Amino acid sequence: MQKKILVTGGCGFIGSHTIALLIEKGYDVVSLDNFSNSHKEALKGLEKLTGRTIANLEVNLCDRLETMKAITEAAPFDAVIHFAAYKSVGESMAKPFMYYQNNIPSVINIAEAAVRNGIQHFIFSSSCTVYGDAEVIPVTENTPIGNALSPYGLTKITAEAQLTDVNKRYKWFKPTFLRYFNPAGAHESALIGEASRRPSTNLVPIICEVVAGKREKLAVFGDDYQTRDGSCIRDYVHVMDLAEAHISALELSLIQESKTDIESFNLGIGEGVSVLEAISAFEQVTGKKVNYAIGEKRPGDVAAIFADYSKAAKVLNWKPKRTIEDIMETAWKWEQVRW
Ligand code: WQD
Repeated sequence: MQKKILVTGGCGFIGSHTIALLIEKGYDVVSLDNFSNSHKEALKGLEKLTGRTIANLEVNLCDRLETMKAITEAAPFDAVIHFAAYKSVGESMAKPFMYYQNNIPSVINIAEAAVRNGIQHFIFSSSCTVYGDAEVIPVTENTPIGNALSPYGLTKITAEAQLTDVNKRYKWFKPTFLRYFNPAGAHESALIGEASRRPSTNLVPIICEVVAGKREKLAVFGDDYQTRDGSCIRDYVHVMDLAEAHISALELSLIQESKTDIESFNLGIGEGVSVLEAISAFEQVTGKKVNYAIGEKRPGDVAAIFADYSKAAKVLNWKPKRTIEDIMETAWKWEQVRW
């Protein structure tokens, strides 16, 4: 019997790439997206890629009654993969209330709709920002969470706490927390890719926009951190590796009907790349020069963080296959054709 999956944020970056893989694996998929930070064109890209028309529920997850009505009418579902959220550390520092008002009520409403409709499996898009400025890196899933340095990170900590409490009260309800590091890159077809509605704040799309002439220059946010070259270190993970991890987490949850304790997984490649190294990787892969200058540090940034993903490797049998070079190659290919 074909499993039916609801993907919130299905027209967004990781959501659209995960839908592409779900369709390829034979799942029946319904997207939910109100296009507040994504584009309808993602559905066209997915149709070209998969040959399938993806239904999309245009629902504002911050509206409780709208959410309950829409999910109940579209049910039944075997699982929810909840991506829909604002996701920029930098933007959240400038607009904290926009993040609180969007990322927190939406989780509560989609969780309530799942419980009301008996949807047991709930894959949640969490983040390495729950670890804040970790004392020891690489971080494992046992690294203490809670000292969020940004409103974005706080909304992910709050969401995990909220879902943990729902699991306490409805013991059959099983959330899985996938803590992403730095998602980047695009589908190799360049039919889908990263396309926020608001100006990019993430490093990789900004590098691409500078080289494409859409921005004048990249500001490197600080070069005097205590790192090997003074610029911040992050764990860049290809969006298709992330999509594969979601399928593995979903399938593990589906086969473990009776096991409903919560599992968290770090999804990063287990190595750090500095901002300057990322720029070099882009230049080496594309042969294009990146126009950049050293600027002020960005509030909310940590000097370095990268993942210990051994738990995902062991439990999900997940291994990231793509490198920073693959990220830059696919991101640049997408930038040149993106809608
Ligand atoms: C990366 C590095 C900046 C822009 C991301 C996601 C977030 C979460 C964690 C999933 C930093 C530097 C950036 C620029 C720069 N992932 N930079 N100039 O802040 O690590 O957060 O990973 O939940 O959703 O956004 O990513 O791409 O903004 O920054 O120097 O113009 O690039 O200082 O060191 P970040 P980012």
